[in-house]
Amino acid sequence: MGCRHFLTLLDLSTNELRALIERGIEIKAGLQKGEIHQPFKGKVLAMIFEKSSTRTRVSFEAGMAQFGGHAIFMSPDDTQLGRGEPIEDTARVLSKMVDIIMIRTFEHDKIESLAQYASVPVINGLSDTYHPCQLLADMQTYYEHRGSIEGKTVAWLGDGNNMCHSYINAACLYQFHLRIACPEDYLPDESIVNTASDFVETISDAKVAAEDADLVVTDVWASMGQEQEADERARVFAPYQVNTEVMSLAKDDALFMHCLPAHRGEEVTADVIDGKQSVVWDEAGNRLHAQKALLEFLLSK
Ligand code: CP
Ligand code: NVA
Repeated sequence: MGCRHFLTLLDLSTNELRALIERGIEIKAGLQKGEIHQPFKGKVLAMIFEKSSTRTRVSFEAGMAQFGGHAIFMSPDDTQLGRGEPIEDTARVLSKMVDIIMIRTFEHDKIESLAQYASVPVINGLSDTYHPCQLLADMQTYYEHRGSIEGKTVAWLGDGNNMCHSYINAACLYQFHLRIACPEDYLPDESIVNTASDFVETISDAKVAAEDADLVVTDVWASMGQEQEADERARVFAPYQVNTEVMSLAKDDALFMHCLPAHRGEEVTADVIDGKQSVVWDEAGNRLHAQKALLEFLLSK
């Protein structure tokens, strides 16, 4: 059997995902106690970033350093990728030099090609279609604050984008109810929704979606690569803003999450994201711990 990749959340079984989240919590506790744990001495991660990043870059780079390994940042501006070297060739070359590869790019099939030609594990650090690493952190955060998410109701408000698709995958694995409220023309990919039809419901009214929810989640209205559409999207998405009125419809102990970066006053108001129900800073911080657990899992296979 070849190596394991992490291109979508569905590359993990439910049991593997559960174990990974528990391991993330354990790794976090160790770090907080000041324990030195360096299982990755001599290991190298190559990180290809064709889109911007703060959290993904820093969490992978810091994670590798804390675990005794090293991470190499590669951008199209200063590598041959930017001059047209095929991803298939890059995959074969990097596999001769590093132990594991992370890529953030536009087309999801580029990540699939990278994985197909690499002989080391490949991690999707975000594509136009999925953002599975973020879901590891979100699931860890929910578990830390409220316990198991199984059977709970999650309301996704806004764009049917990469994050929304990864939430659909998470709903399948964890068996939670996902209510997706999106404008008609911005629904998630139908084929992805169909993989989880027992758990996912798409509706047009944000307030209906939020009713009695245990978790309310949103994301930017214009993702990376959609900057030209920002004005039009701001107009269409206005009824999907997460504000105190929306949060008041959810359960009293509902949590609010956002993968960040956020635009206060657009997809979420400042009083919600900076308010008591928001766990966005834990969510961002957990990128570090959950991904260390992921790296450990993939490097052990
Ligand atoms: N949430 C997230 O992936 O953030 P970055 O774009 O900063 O990596
Ligand atoms: N949907 C956003 C997520 C950013 C982390 C984007 O793709 O830009």
